[in-house]
Amino acid sequence: MELYVDTANIEHIRHCAELGFVSGVTTNPSLLAQEDPNVDIKQRILEIHKLIGGHLSVEVISTDTKGMLKEADEILSWFPDATIKIPMIPAGLAAVKELNNNDIPTNVTLVFTPTQAMAAANAGATYVSVFMGRLDDISTPSNEVLNTVCDIWETQGYDALIIAASIRHSQHLIDAALAGADIATVPYKVLMQSLGHPLTETGLKQFLADYDRMQTERMKAIGV
Ligand code: E4P
Repeated sequence: MELYVDTANIEHIRHCAELGFVSGVTTNPSLLAQEDPNVDIKQRILEIHKLIGGHLSVEVISTDTKGMLKEADEILSWFPDATIKIPMIPAGLAAVKELNNNDIPTNVTLVFTPTQAMAAANAGATYVSVFMGRLDDISTPSNEVLNTVCDIWETQGYDALIIAASIRHSQHLIDAALAGADIATVPYKVLMQSLGHPLTETGLKQFLADYDRMQTERMKAIGV
């Protein structure tokens, strides 16, 4: 399962890019506004694109097909390898169909049910983003929904890549990987938390202390 970072924060994206285990970025209007409500969206997106050099989903804000397609054109004029993020609404499906006919990748967002996921795939979505955290928020077990979507994909042979989105903690990452999601898009904080364990820290501390002790003993032995 690939990992994307779900943010519009430049420093966080830079850090992930340096670490080398993240292959893409997803953004949405809320994430952009969270960083800076006055942000120049085009500049910010181009900055992100330069840093990550991999997948970058940029979301449209129109709710009609024509408007979405116009925005997609605009985003593609910024950088041609953009993935256009389209909301899971009927007008969005028509936009996905049209973009797919023109070989433009799309990421259908705000997917909460297997039937929405299938509709997005049938319209020609490249990626389908199933929102885990928001499902759990309404007491709908997200792992069950994602498992069902992945089982359907296996049975039906859908090509669209499944993104586990709205990730809140490491257990979501494990559930997504077990279900068979292709990608998880993860907030920076959760990504960093997923890398650590107290035993890794104490273990490393001990290794370094023992190495220092060894060096000191060796210096003593050779009379330095
Ligand atoms: C991903 O593409 C979505 O924008 C994101 O995962 C939403 O997450 P949230 O539910 O934490 O806002």
